[in-house]
Amino acid sequence: MTAQNKKLIVGNWKMNLNMHEASLFLHKLSGLTKPHRTVDVVLAPTMLTLQSLSLQVNYRQFKLAAQNIYWRDQGAFTGEVSARQLSGVVQYAIIGHSERRHIFHESDKDTRNKVQAAIRNNISPILCVGETAAERAMNETNDILHDQLVGGLANITSEELSQIAIAYEPVWAIGTGNNATPHDVTQAEKAIRSQIRHLYGKTAAETVRVLYGGSVTKDSAAEYLAIPGIDGLLIGGASLDAQGFSDIIEKAHKTASAVAK
Ligand code: PGA
Repeated sequence: MTAQNKKLIVGNWKMNLNMHEASLFLHKLSGLTKPHRTVDVVLAPTMLTLQSLSLQVNYRQFKLAAQNIYWRDQGAFTGEVSARQLSGVVQYAIIGHSERRHIFHESDKDTRNKVQAAIRNNISPILCVGETAAERAMNETNDILHDQLVGGLANITSEELSQIAIAYEPVWAIGTGNNATPHDVTQAEKAIRSQIRHLYGKTAAETVRVLYGGSVTKDSAAEYLAIPGIDGLLIGGASLDAQGFSDIIEKAHKTASAVAK
């Protein structure tokens, strides 16, 4: 087992759970989850709870992620939290989530600045990319993936790329129950790796971690984890069910161990 064939399972709690609820949920989840060297499990609670959870969490079991960061290190940016301020509290940051892009109108330029800010502050970016239903209907998926990857990764070196995971999250599949088929995911994963090959060469294309996210449940997780080239999952709704989420972690462990044999 090398770091590269580990699975990465990310639970995005979105704007759910207050401080007390988050602490209880983490307590429950740690009781249900065995730490495995084969799987990195990352929890992304709301910004408010990160500091207290960072004192409660067992790092061999879970790492923490911010759901968003601001890219300037400090200054007059009312309401924002910078990667620099989060450094030491989180190990990962979700960047360019479709809810950020579509509800808060984040551009590729914003995501690029945030990817760079995360790297600069020793935080591993999980860069989300994916097309909307309308873009898919117009056959624009590969163009969107191209633009979001080129836009988000500008000025990133191949060494820095090794710290980044790319999450394919088709917008039409997020929180909708309309999950993508393994065929859709495979097509997108290939398009992502081919774009990375174009930008960074063959080795980077083979080793960059590519995740799938969008209405993954404990029942559908194994099917996605079995896709060659899919290194993990970004899970929203189903990550708020402690038993279901720990089942998904066990499935990731089984898949990773089977591949390592
Ligand atoms: P979902 O969310 O699993 O609830 O579709 C995925 C995500 O937003 O990352």
